[in-house]
Amino acid sequence: MRAASHALRPAGKRLGLVPTMGALHEGHLSLVRAARAQCDAVAVSIFVNPTQFGPNEDLARYPRPFERDREMLEQEGVDLVFAPTVEEVYGTVADKSVRATPATWVTVEDLSGKLDGRSRPGHFRGVTTVVSKLFHIVEPDVAFFGQKDAAQLAVIRRMVCDLNFPVEIVACPIVREADGLAMSSRNAYLDATQRKEALVLHRSLMRVEELARAGERDATKLAAAGRAEFVKEKSVRLDYFEIVDAETLDPVADVSAGALVAVAAYVGTTRLIDNVLLAAT
Ligand code: PAJ
Repeated sequence: MRAASHALRPAGKRLGLVPTMGALHEGHLSLVRAARAQCDAVAVSIFVNPTQFGPNEDLARYPRPFERDREMLEQEGVDLVFAPTVEEVYGTVADKSVRATPATWVTVEDLSGKLDGRSRPGHFRGVTTVVSKLFHIVEPDVAFFGQKDAAQLAVIRRMVCDLNFPVEIVACPIVREADGLAMSSRNAYLDATQRKEALVLHRSLMRVEELARAGERDATKLAAAGRAEFVKEKSVRLDYFEIVDAETLDPVADVSAGALVAVAAYVGTTRLIDNVLLAAT
């Protein structure tokens, strides 16, 4: 992979990497298109990374439509698809069926315990470890991530800064379905009823954005208004609804300087996340 990557970027050429877990949708493709627009060559990795899944999460049933993904990427004119096996990424593992456990981890302290990291212990450690490995294997000049996973983006930015990775991080906006639901590979788990119920995530964010636009600055009041939407949607279980600084992920009291409004909720057993950035005023 490294030899192929070197061949794709002779001196002065920029190689972009889009890391994914596959089951590609328009959200992923928007990152690929941004990479194509900003780079000379584009590599996409497809790897369902076992170390970022908790023991009771959906690792085994995570969709893996590899042929379809590969065709989509070919259509987008991607230069290289890197789809390694678990053994190739982590070496031979004792329990071949599921869990790879490296001895060396990359952990962004503090940030990794916030938002999704609080609900999913060990999740961000798995993400930063695999993203470090992908950066070392592919050696991209630029890597593209979605604003959809806002906490992941903050954690990766911090890792790249702390460990001096020579990789520029580009964030791309959230791509949504026509009715507002943020695109996600996990939306495929929802049945028709749940698909409608899932709209409460976007609705709650829109409510907060509307109040902020109307002049409300108090993050406690804004978050309460967002959470209230979930009281009306009994079948959806709220995990968190928080208004935080987009970089530190610490709660803010006032949104005047801008803020990240982030939500996670369970629709049935499916955990969905979404967020919106409030502009500084
Ligand atoms: P995955 O969930 O496949 O997402 C890959 C990239 O696509 C992430 O940067 C994510 O933020 C972005 N993305 C997903 N849905 C999006 C949407 N609706 N709009 C815009 N971007 C979207 O995130 C991961 O994989 C993994 O944690 C990974 C970084 C690959 C490490 O294993």
